[in-house]
Amino acid sequence: MCGIIGYSGNLEAGPVILSGLKQLEYRGYDSAGMALLTESNELYLVKKVGRVAALEKEIDPSILSHCGIGHTRWATHGGVTDTNAHPHCAGKVVLLHNGIIENYHTLQKQFGFAQTAVSQTDTEVAAQLIDYYYNRCKNPQQAICRAVDLLEGSYAFCILFTDVPGKVFCIRSVSPLVAASCEQGCFVASDLTALIAYTNRYFVLPEHTLLCLDRTGMTLTDLQGNPVDPDYLEVSWNIESAQKGGYPHYMLKEIYEQPEAFNRTVTPRIRNGLPDFSEEKIPDSLLQSFDKIRIVACGTALYAGMIGRSLLERKGKIPVEVSIASEFRYDPPVIDDKTLVLIISQSGETIDSLAALRLAKQLGATVISVINVKGSSIARESDYVIYTHAGPEISVASTKAYMVQISVLYLLAARIFLARGILTPEEVRTFIGNLGNAEKSISSVLEQRAEQIRHLAEKLAHCAHAFYIGRGMDYAFSMEGALKLKEITYIHAEAYAAGELKHGTISLIEEGIPVVAIATQDSIFNKTISNVREVKARGAFVILITKEGVHAAEDFCDIQIEIPQVDDFFTVFPIAVVLQLLAYYTAYAKGYDMDKPRNLAKSVTVE
Ligand code: F6R
Repeated sequence: MCGIIGYSGNLEAGPVILSGLKQLEYRGYDSAGMALLTESNELYLVKKVGRVAALEKEIDPSILSHCGIGHTRWATHGGVTDTNAHPHCAGKVVLLHNGIIENYHTLQKQFGFAQTAVSQTDTEVAAQLIDYYYNRCKNPQQAICRAVDLLEGSYAFCILFTDVPGKVFCIRSVSPLVAASCEQGCFVASDLTALIAYTNRYFVLPEHTLLCLDRTGMTLTDLQGNPVDPDYLEVSWNIESAQKGGYPHYMLKEIYEQPEAFNRTVTPRIRNGLPDFSEEKIPDSLLQSFDKIRIVACGTALYAGMIGRSLLERKGKIPVEVSIASEFRYDPPVIDDKTLVLIISQSGETIDSLAALRLAKQLGATVISVINVKGSSIARESDYVIYTHAGPEISVASTKAYMVQISVLYLLAARIFLARGILTPEEVRTFIGNLGNAEKSISSVLEQRAEQIRHLAEKLAHCAHAFYIGRGMDYAFSMEGALKLKEITYIHAEAYAAGELKHGTISLIEEGIPVVAIATQDSIFNKTISNVREVKARGAFVILITKEGVHAAEDFCDIQIEIPQVDDFFTVFPIAVVLQLLAYYTAYAKGYDMDKPRNLAKSVTVE
């Protein structure tokens, strides 16, 4: 939510900030803004409702500056207006923010800021408060420290002082910020995608430390002014990984990157045909000693967790509960030091998942997280981290991250089965062999089914509603399929356990309503088909997804999409691709920007 960038260095700051904002735009795209401290030490400020491209048109290219800040907004407090766009100014302070200041109203009253406020945002109060203290102490660092001491909520700030040339001050609590320094200057941003064009060496700004970027270097101190040594990280990906690489959209590129992402994630974790987590230092003793597993996540990551649960319960008879992260804290979880908690998150910054992690640890549970973004908050606070190697996922709709989350859950489940003696090493080797083959089934759908799905999507594009049905694991796939469709095509889509439909929802089925029926689980195939017949009999337009070689009679399906013949536990891999392509091509047919669907942002860092 919201992308922020700060720069001080030898390059022209305007273009650096603008290109950073383009990379960060996937984090929020209601409005954008930029502030530069010019060569003649004046403030140049521009903000505009709309995408970064709208901001770009407003920028005066003749402005010369080597220091500035930029913001792309996902509105929380205050409507989408030019005035509410960041940066916000108060006196000599120019500030932009990612997060929410929860006590802004109290502070506004306490300090009488309401009279001078020009926006409806929670952010402006932070600028006012820093300016208030700056007027008294005349020291930027002290003013920031005194102000943040009063703030409740989450924040990542980049701050300019109009009488302090060439410097950007940064501080954060919860909301992410990464920083880097290289030949071209010093940079800070919400995530690495904005910095990767310059360097792949960076550090995550530790919470409650103060970073000051200057043209010649940067200083990091604690709030008492003592120097802090940052922990540098490196990523192996480059700027091309964060660009479209010839694809019309990030989403399509990321769908097609799945075989590679799968291999990068799985292959290094197989030794002698067995799953191996020695790199992550996860001891078998931990995997042997828990009583139950609790998986906590949001959205697509949650649906990945549901697949993990099916595998762990069905094959391992291990009790697993899956919780929506935003509900976890408010529905007091019954967990203790015998519970293994798995937090799944692509960004590693989802605030509800982070809060769930903290509660789980307070209650004594051990936490393993499955994370894509290196050094993210959830990764840092977990007892153990298993990184997925999807590379940067820029499209708001998650695709390759889901695929690799599931593959990690499969590896982890297999290691648990081995450690607990649920499966013999030979049985685990067979399972891992099947997992290794999943890459072929993913590629085969990409190569052989994309055209069929594209044609079908043109039909789906005209519908207002769609249903996804399935039983068992097929039901878990349905949930992800329906989410993908609704988030990028705005078609109302519902996932239903196929057998549950007739307990109410079947009343919505009428002539021509599309029903995507997933029937890839051999043991319950006939049961699902009975439900398919029920909707077909009521006029539904049935898109049936089965394994290859299943003869689907015309009386129960209109279109059949076949996936390769794989064991039931492994159908998720090709199915995920079918469902992603169906959503992508439907959004394409409707002419929507599926990389930046309305009202959404890639990383949900507010509650
Ligand atoms: C849907 C999607 C979201 C995320 C969810 C969790 O396509 O991308 O549902 O899966 O917001 O995000 P992470 O995985 O970053 O915690």
